[in-house]
Amino acid sequence: MTDRAIELTLTLNGTERTADVDPRMLLVEALRESFGVTGPKVGCATGDCGACTVSADGAIVKSCLTLAAAAQGAHVTTIEGLGADGALTDLQQAFWDEYAFQCGFCLSGMLFAAQDLLDRNPHPTDAEIRTAISGNLCRCTGYDNIVSAVRRCSAG
Ligand code: FES
Ligand code: FES
Repeated sequence: MTDRAIELTLTLNGTERTADVDPRMLLVEALRESFGVTGPKVGCATGDCGACTVSADGAIVKSCLTLAAAAQGAHVTTIEGLGADGALTDLQQAFWDEYAFQCGFCLSGMLFAAQDLLDRNPHPTDAEIRTAISGNLCRCTGYDNIVSAVRRCSAG
């Protein structure tokens, strides 16, 4: 931490939180190291894998490409904030039922990308699902089970 630390206040998973952060800190670093929220992972730190994905003011954000300071005043949701009162969302339950994750490193990005698709397009084709999750890398599942989980949540 430099002596130029800034006070960062954001609404994190529904609760207003404040921490002193280095102005050069990335959002994923601030979430993990200053706020103790470890769902977002650092896979590549270059924007390619999606493991660090969060929602900021409703937009999907790769938090390894975002300065923490840019989230000043934002409503940030991480994977920890997806379900209400510890309950799984329908999409999380579908991932569980379809064995759509193993190590879970990709899970934040997959869930945010898939939910964003379902919110925009409740009846996605498999091709649309694959396009929607294409910014997220999974080294474990081979992707088919992830597509099945998202299809399970399709309203069609
Ligand atoms: S760690 Fe951010 S996209 Fe890979
Ligand atoms: S479940 Fe391991 S990277 Fe996707």
